[in-house]
Amino acid sequence: MKFFNREKEIKEVLSIIEGEPNLIYFIYGPINSGKTALINEIINNRLDKDKYIVFYFDLREIFISKYDDFIEVLFEEYDDDKSPIEVIKAIINDLPSLYGIPIPKNTLNEIFKKKTTKNVFRYITNVLMDIKKEGKQPIIIIDELQKIGDMKINGFLIYELFNYFVSLTKHKHLCHVFCISSDSLFIERVYNEAMLEDRVDYILVDDFDKETALKFMDFLSKELLNKKLSDEDKELIYSYVGGKPILIIKVINKLRYENLNDILNFMLKEETSKLRKLLIRIKNNKFEGIEYEKVINALKLFKENYEINEYLVDEDTKEFLVKRNILFLNPIEETLKPQSYLMWNAIKRVL
Ligand SMILES: Nc1ncnc2c1ncn2[C@@H]1O[C@H](COP(=O)(O)OP(=O)(O)O)[C@@H](O)[C@H]1O
Ligand SMILES: [Mg+2]
Repeated sequence: MKFFNREKEIKEVLSIIEGEPNLIYFIYGPINSGKTALINEIINNRLDKDKYIVFYFDLREIFISKYDDFIEVLFEEYDDDKSPIEVIKAIINDLPSLYGIPIPKNTLNEIFKKKTTKNVFRYITNVLMDIKKEGKQPIIIIDELQKIGDMKINGFLIYELFNYFVSLTKHKHLCHVFCISSDSLFIERVYNEAMLEDRVDYILVDDFDKETALKFMDFLSKELLNKKLSDEDKELIYSYVGGKPILIIKVINKLRYENLNDILNFMLKEETSKLRKLLIRIKNNKFEGIEYEKVINALKLFKENYEINEYLVDEDTKEFLVKRNILFLNPIEETLKPQSYLMWNAIKRVL
């Protein structure tokens, strides 16, 4: 599928990359809003490969529970006697980004034995400096960073990592660092973290606004259906799924073999039944400390509004609904909203 729009966000990220590394950037937004797609578009099609070397770590599908798992994500071992920079130079022309930092087998074995992050970070810094010496700017991108949010090695790994990222950006100006997360509770933790104050900036990748969503429908119907949708159809689709790219794609794709009303009604029915089942479990006290009345009252706040002030909902209920992907929290704007229009419609229907 071709990539659509996001020109504003692309320009923002490219402008950051053109400057000297100074801050750690957190790319956040509701689930399936297009954060990963955006970063991949930039890496694959928008970055000048002669100038930049990108290390992209996607923690999404990787199970990380201990130090060794983390090391395996970071590194790609090799066993000849080349230097890491020679290895990079040999493979970079065929790849948009690297999925591991090249490391000689012996060095990797040493690092596995030592169980501290000190040597890990020292090794990475040396590789990054070698890249700089070659006249290229390194960029580190970690997708779904929250997956190591609770991991302990000696202390919390995430704090060691943040400290390291601060040294790479604010102190050494050596490497750009972008962290991506759909987990708004994790972003809230980052936002409240004193050690990161003034060292971090945030880029919101939200669902499309209405105007863009309608254009996305035009774009997709041309690509997938080879025809134009009527304005009424587009309005109808928007009223069900809003500007969430993945849902718009789903609808238009199904239009190849299904009727629009059936598609939309089925999607809403599915979402509604999932929400109702969750509410029944809450009512039956399946979740410790979560009160049914409070959840219902919180959801009622969305009857008239798509977005509300986060402090209208008590802490525990808020955390529960965010964790369950019913709501998206924007800790910077201090707002809560349903994870999608579809969820919003489901909430209104269940109540
Ligand atoms: N701008 C876009 N153009 C085309 N497809 C998109 C766009 N943004 C998102 N998508 C599609 O929507 C789906 C979800 O996007 P993704 O980037 O995985 O979301 P996130 O990382 O925010 O959870 C993907 O299949 C992706 O291809
Ligand atoms: Mg993603």
